[in-house]
Amino acid sequence: MQDQAARLREIINQRRSFSNTVNEKNKASAMPSSSTRIICVTSGKGGVGKTNFTLNLAIALSKLNNRVVIIDADLGLANVDVVMGVLPKYTLLDVIKGNKELEDIMVTGPNGIKIISGGSGVLDLIDMPQDQITHLIDKFENISNYADIILIDTGAGLSKSVLSFVLAAHEVIVVCTPEPTAITDAYAMIKTIGIKDKSKKLKLLINRVENVNEGKITFEKLKNASDKFLNINIEKLGYLLEDIHVSRSVKLQQPFIIQFPNSPVSKNIELIASKLTNDKVELDNNNTTTKGFFNKVISLFR
Ligand SMILES: Nc1ncnc2c1ncn2[C@@H]1O[C@H](COP(=O)(O)OP(=O)(O)OP(=O)(O)O)[C@@H](O)[C@H]1O
Ligand SMILES: [Mg+2]
Repeated sequence: MQDQAARLREIINQRRSFSNTVNEKNKASAMPSSSTRIICVTSGKGGVGKTNFTLNLAIALSKLNNRVVIIDADLGLANVDVVMGVLPKYTLLDVIKGNKELEDIMVTGPNGIKIISGGSGVLDLIDMPQDQITHLIDKFENISNYADIILIDTGAGLSKSVLSFVLAAHEVIVVCTPEPTAITDAYAMIKTIGIKDKSKKLKLLINRVENVNEGKITFEKLKNASDKFLNINIEKLGYLLEDIHVSRSVKLQQPFIIQFPNSPVSKNIELIASKLTNDKVELDNNNTTTKGFFNKVISLFR
């Protein structure tokens, strides 16, 4: 009972601290998380399935009672929104310019997941004066009011912006397929991350496998090379089968886990969501807050 009362007090305090201009619907679901887990999804090669994986994983995680916010950090076209069939009116750029609050730009998706579009806003941070950056980062802390887990969908490849998100995140999921080019590019990505931070928690997701054995072989290739030549430990997150339901759902602009919940790929995603939920994460004390995360992203980026 006391726990519930304390939680209610927290919600009330939280609501009081918001300005009147914020989106009422988003505001109503605000509740601070004791520590938000920040997971970055990335890949060496483009088009390997990051966005579909991120969106469907977010929904599966929310079915397991996690509050999830996706940040679409791809600086090109907003990916997540296209796959979901919702086009955002506003992006992070509007928050950066001071026209909008974070709550105004969050779009609610299936199962209550929330999506924040990065747009090209991140690029504007480079030239921003430090006092404005500090003000902005204070606003970012509000995301943890809506999230137990933040999933960041990055673009592919080794650009500075992708690496900034990757290096600042608590955990990194590298998506790869069994194709040799995807494996080589994933290896290059793992190597670059390892040079900057050997202790980064790296998990590998093998997408589009024909069968479990193909996934296993692909994982072992990358694991053995990373152990031997890079001295970096990568963990196996799991596999997603090649499944026609993925492209069908993309055409319908609906997540496959909603449209085809019994498809093989949806079952694969559910397994990964429960594995991630059960994984105990030890967060580094200096980097537990969402504010700390964005501070790190911006300092790496600038
Ligand atoms: N498991 C799968 N089975 C079948 N097709 C898949 C699977 N995963 C992804 N695809 C196909 O790959 C396409 C690209 O996926 P997605 O857009 O998620 O990749 P991405 O890594 O986010 O790309 P980008 O690097 O351009 O952001 C999908 O539209 C779909 O057709
Ligand atoms: Mg994408």
